[in-house]
Amino acid sequence: EPKKVVVIGSANADLVVALNRRPGPGETVMGADLVVSPGGKGANQAVAAGMLGAPVVFLGAVGEDEHGELLLGSLRGAGVDVAHVARPDRPTGNAYIMVTPDGENSIVVSPGANSAVAEADVDAARGVLAEAAVMVLSLEIPLSTVAHAVASAAELGVRPVLNLSPTAELPDEVLAALDPLVVNEHEAAWLLGAEGSPEDLATRLLDVGPRSVVVTIGAKGAVVADRAGVHTVPSPQVKPVDTTGAGDAFTGALAGRLAAGEDLVEAARFAVRVAATSVTRHGAQPSYPRADEVIG
Ligand code: RIB
Ligand code: NA
Repeated sequence: EPKKVVVIGSANADLVVALNRRPGPGETVMGADLVVSPGGKGANQAVAAGMLGAPVVFLGAVGEDEHGELLLGSLRGAGVDVAHVARPDRPTGNAYIMVTPDGENSIVVSPGANSAVAEADVDAARGVLAEAAVMVLSLEIPLSTVAHAVASAAELGVRPVLNLSPTAELPDEVLAALDPLVVNEHEAAWLLGAEGSPEDLATRLLDVGPRSVVVTIGAKGAVVADRAGVHTVPSPQVKPVDTTGAGDAFTGALAGRLAAGEDLVEAARFAVRVAATSVTRHGAQPSYPRADEVIG
């Protein structure tokens, strides 16, 4: 049996409007028609890994509403096990997303049901966690739940991978367990309180505690740092249409490959190709490739 990936995180209905430029304070601009599609950092990571063939369990929460059905349909479509998705009496989380012609996005998340993902849900899934090789986390669910999940991973010998998005202060013992901590350049600079080259940021982040670090650098790929050294992993060049969820595609693909036994640099080489493929298509989950569609 291939070892599983357990993703513990958010699921959002993405409410996406394409527009020519972002409005400033007090300004009104016209955008294109609304597009609703499945997203949320946790569900995105799970779908990305599932589409590529990894055995994935998603632990999260969606409402008893249409958006909840949209998310469950997308997860199931990617072969993800949704037996640990709760249906609390809260609306499904939403993300309000503006996408500009350069493919860049701005996102506001309204958490809804994601706020209900609790430590008890992690405990209830302990049997599933024990079967997993890798646990994937991000920060659109309560930080207390994330901290508990990482502690459980440590107890059970599961490798925790955490994407520090959106940014939040992590307890030292959580940071120390991560293998890897995945951040983009903004998140890295936020965590360090300093700027620097991606290689520099990755090296200095390693000193802050995690077992390994990946700094994603958008169209340029990623930098991987662990005790063995620092590697720059270049990305294939593509014409971006929508970068929403590219980081989640990277993290999901990375987790799938780590669970299959690849080393971190090899896994990152594949994950940058998956992320690059995702930016050539619209949306988050709807843009994720099957293994035979990955470019590069
Ligand atoms: O990382 C992209 C995701 O962030 C979107 O799908 C949105 O739902 C927010 O969670
Ligand atoms: Na995309």
